[in-house]
Formats: sequence, structure tokens, C-alpha cells
Amino acid sequence: MKIAVLPGDGIGTEIVAEALRVLEVLDLSFETESALVGGAAYEAHGHPLPESTLKLAKEADAVLFGAVGDWKYDKLERSLRPEQAILGLRKNLGLFANFRPAICYEQLVDASSLKPELIAGLDILIIRELTGDIYFGQPRGRRTAVDGHFPGAEEAFDTMRYSRPEVERIAHVAFQAARKRSKRVTSVDKANVLETFQFWKDIVTEVGKEYPDVELDHMYVDNAAMQLVKAPKKFDVVVTGNMFGDILSDEAAMLTGSIGMLPSASLNSSNQGLYEPSHGSAPDIAGKGVANPLATILSAAMMLRFSLNQPEAADRIESAVKHVLAQGLRTADIWSAGTTKVGTREMGDAVVAAITKKTITG
Ligand code: IPM
Ligand code: MG
Repeated sequence: MKIAVLPGDGIGTEIVAEALRVLEVLDLSFETESALVGGAAYEAHGHPLPESTLKLAKEADAVLFGAVGDWKYDKLERSLRPEQAILGLRKNLGLFANFRPAICYEQLVDASSLKPELIAGLDILIIRELTGDIYFGQPRGRRTAVDGHFPGAEEAFDTMRYSRPEVERIAHVAFQAARKRSKRVTSVDKANVLETFQFWKDIVTEVGKEYPDVELDHMYVDNAAMQLVKAPKKFDVVVTGNMFGDILSDEAAMLTGSIGMLPSASLNSSNQGLYEPSHGSAPDIAGKGVANPLATILSAAMMLRFSLNQPEAADRIESAVKHVLAQGLRTADIWSAGTTKVGTREMGDAVVAAITKKTITG
């Protein structure tokens, strides 16, 4: 088994280092190889996703990814910006199924901006389609308008599109995931306005007939955004397109207290996956040793479960994380009065200690 390690930019290097320490202490047999990605790769090789990095990612069984991006690259032409690295990896590896679980740990109920009773026990799974939609649809660009409200004016455009197989496969992923949970899927669309999402809704409904044991409902994205803060526990599995999923998963992250807690997995049809925290590179706190490494550590657990077939090791990481939270250890993003503030490294140490202690005491 081989893991490609791509720490990236900003806090990426700090948090991935902690996840690697956690993986090492589990004493599993796998090989790791690191490479530059994002702004770091641009600095060294002139491209955010160099050929060598892409090759390493393609050949590995799994990719452990930190984060990319920094404001200082905002002025670069789009194809050279750090974000292109993650988009390129998704596209080239065919990582169409993005799992973003939003779990509110009991100890973090007070870290959320929502009332405790709304989020205590929250456990939802957002399944975001990741290689289609307006993110990748062609054509796109800038031109002179020939029609519309201002013919002759400069305009920009992107294309929202989905093909039948793209919608079918993500719908299957959602129904199958729901079977392992409470057998409910909410498909989020904008069928009242967009042709693409009427098509989406029709296909999800069709695929749903193959899963009579799973309850399916449909919700418009604006209403879903509202329901997520009004009654988030009503959701179980949420399946949606690339752009709506981007937005709703950030919203769902905040329900859990901090985006610093949210892992994610992006899988292709052969279960090869890229695992990354749902948060970004946070250049404002990079290098300060204060970032929360738990989302990355939990992403490593997802990697063990989904791509490396090591479910027991994944369980051990997840229970170690619960243990450190129960001990009252908190990085700044999840800190609240009465708990102990720790840095990135100390949080990693605590997770490692929780795992080793469990090994000794069985
Ligand atoms: C995410 C991020 C990315 C996205 C960016 C960095 C391209 O926001 O993974 O949610 O929009 O998908
Ligand atoms: Mg996002």
C-alpha cells in the first residue's frame, strides 16, 4: 500500500505532519512518499500540480492532502493558482464522490454558533458530486455579449452541465451510503429554476426506485441552506451537485463547532481516494503552530477505512480523537471557557498518546 502525501500550503504542512505521526504509531505496513502541491509546487516547479506530483498521486492507493492556497497567488493567471492543483487532482483521478460528514462531537456542542439542542448528536453526511457541474463545464470564458441585457458589453460565462451517467453514479453512491446509516437521502437541487437540476432530480428519482428500502426526498438548495441552520438533525445523507455541495458543506461544517473538525474523502470508481480536511490553508495562522490538526487526523482515519481496508485502525483514531476532546484539550478554533488550549503539535501528541495507551491497556 502506498500513500502519496501532499501537504501543500499554509497550515497544510503542520496538520499533515500530525496526521502522519498518528498513522506511524498505528504500526501498519504502508509506504509514504511526499510531493509538493499548490503554491509550494508553483514556487519550486512553476506549476501548482507538476507532472511528478500527479504521477505520484495516480500511482498511490490513497492521497493524504493538506490544503492549498494563499492570497499572494490571487493575481496569477487562473491555470497557475494553487486551487487548480486540487481541481486537477479531482479531475485526473476521477474523484467524483466527495464524502463530507458533519458530526457534532458531544464535547463541542458549545463551540457551535447554534443552540446546543439544535446540534447535540448531529451526524449528517454530505455527498457532493465533485467532477462535474459548473466547476468543470465547458464552454467558459470571457467575450463580448451578442445578446442579453447589454449587447456589445464585455461578459463572462460558465456552463452548468451534468450528464446522465454522472448523476446516476453519484446517486448510487448516496443510496448505498444511506443503507449503512438511517436509510434516508435528501437530494438537493434547484429544479424550480435550472434545467440541469430538473434533470438531476429526475435521475435521482429513477435511481431511487432501485433502493425501495431508502426514503428519498428532494429539497431546493435555498431551502436546504435554511433547514441546515433551522433543524439540521432532520438530515441524514444529503446528495447534491458540485457547487451546491461546496456551499452547503461549509455551512454544515459550522454546525459542528468548527470547520477544523471536518474530514473529507473523495473517491473514484476504484475506491482510490484523496483525503483532506474540509478547511483551507488558513495563511493567517500558518507557521504559528495553532491550527487544529483533527480534521486531517480524521481524514487519515477515513483513508484507512475507505481506501486501505483497515477499519479497526480507523476506529482507533476516531476513538482517540473523542478521548482527547473528553480530556478537555482544544485548539484555539474550538476552545471555550473551562477547557485547555493546546497547539497543533500538542494536539497531535495527545492523539498519539491516546492511541498508544489504548494499545498497552488493550
Ligand atoms: C473545497 C474548496 C475547493 C472547492 C476550492 C479550494 C477549489 O472550497 O474543497 O470545498 O471549491 O471545491
Ligand atoms: Mg469549499
